[in-house]
Amino acid sequence: MVHQVESKHIGIIGTGYVGLVTGACFAEVGHKVICQDCDERKISILKSGGMPIYEPHLEDLVKKNVGEGSLSFTSELKELISSSEIIFICVGTPPLENGEADLSAVENVTRHIAEESTAYKLIVEKSTVPVQTGIWIKRTLNIYKSTNAHFDVASNPEFLREGSAVEDFLHPDRIVIGVENENTERILHDLYVPILSQSFPCPIHRDCSFHREVPLVVTDINSAELIKHVSNSFLATKISFINAVADICERAEADVTKVAYGVGLDHRIGKDFLNAGIGFGGFCFPKDLQAFIRIAEKLGYDFALLKEVEKINESRMDLILNKLKDYLWIIKGKTIGILGLSFKPNTDDIRFAPSLKIIERLQNEGAILKAYDPKAIDKARGVIPDIVYCNDPFEVAKDSEALLLLTEWEEFRNLDFEKIKTCVRRRLVVDGRNMLDKQKMQELGFEYVGIGR
Ligand code: UGA
Repeated sequence: MVHQVESKHIGIIGTGYVGLVTGACFAEVGHKVICQDCDERKISILKSGGMPIYEPHLEDLVKKNVGEGSLSFTSELKELISSSEIIFICVGTPPLENGEADLSAVENVTRHIAEESTAYKLIVEKSTVPVQTGIWIKRTLNIYKSTNAHFDVASNPEFLREGSAVEDFLHPDRIVIGVENENTERILHDLYVPILSQSFPCPIHRDCSFHREVPLVVTDINSAELIKHVSNSFLATKISFINAVADICERAEADVTKVAYGVGLDHRIGKDFLNAGIGFGGFCFPKDLQAFIRIAEKLGYDFALLKEVEKINESRMDLILNKLKDYLWIIKGKTIGILGLSFKPNTDDIRFAPSLKIIERLQNEGAILKAYDPKAIDKARGVIPDIVYCNDPFEVAKDSEALLLLTEWEEFRNLDFEKIKTCVRRRLVVDGRNMLDKQKMQELGFEYVGIGR
């Protein structure tokens, strides 16, 4: 059943992955949204119908909602503040050198909102922030506000995965809101009604199978902020746990993919995030884990468990290098083909991608590197210049002495390895994501090297 949505005027500050997806999806379910970013280049790309990032379905949603007048863009914060009653802060919170989150952008926009608001506003923090940031936002609003303005603050953490962010926003496992009073709870509830009740026509799947009601978790602000960091840290822990198990499997001659399957069928454990490989990367897990360790430290708790999770993740780089050395003996002067650069499939994001560290290590060893990625080459060019970028996997394979699979793009699963085998100098594949069929690869005559199998 399609509910009539009470359309709200929403302002989104920051048009990164989180802000742009949030803005486009709120517009899609019936609200009127204005998105702001101080990066004028990004705004001009968006205004001219382009996309600053690749994210499945996002471009279509943006185009459609801009066309219908429910989504617009500006680089002027003032314009956003004056036209929105509910403002989502979605600016970046990058890591500082000591691992803490840099909250200067959050503070900066909060001050502007305080100084330029002349009426009531609900300020919702969606950027990933340490616990107790809401308290600072409230304090800052009260210090710098004009006499007519008054504010509520809420936390509404996001759980969007890059590569499926639109789907995650529209069909979430849960929506978490941290609020100080019932009025804020009501406003946010109403805002999310179409998603909570799943009462909008799904723009992704014509016969959408997601029909269940979405739980709304209402907490205080501190708890909501913690839910975000705890979720990411727990998922990262699962990955490092299975990676440690993979190392044991190698020593014990067992297969980690089978172990993970057997373990994951226990619904208390769950099968997700038990894929062993080269470890986690991206702009969320590594930085959120560090930030959470720092917050715990500040609160007087030594989160040694999470430090170990980080350490295991770091050790994956040595693992890959050692595997290559075991097979190639000398790396210097050898051509190695890299398949996949982005930190995970279906995104062009290479921030904190494991591929970057592995490439750096291989370059230090004197390897000659060629690489292909379906989406991330343009972004990679700016970061890793001394490498040959190829148009397809076959070009990468040509004369390679080893192929290193670093991102589990579907394209690689279905690769024509019969053809690949005629291009390479040596039939050696190191599968950093355990995505290929070991037996098939061996039958094709490849030396197959997986992780923990
Ligand atoms: C993650 C969370 O999954 C989101 O819920 C959260 O909203 C987001 O961070 C965020 O904080 O903004 P994302 O970083 O996009 O999302 O990607 P994930 O799918 O979680 O993967 C993270 C990394 O873990 C990737 O490098 C992936 O390859 C790796 N991974 C994942 C594994 O190595 N093994 C697994 O089994 C699963």
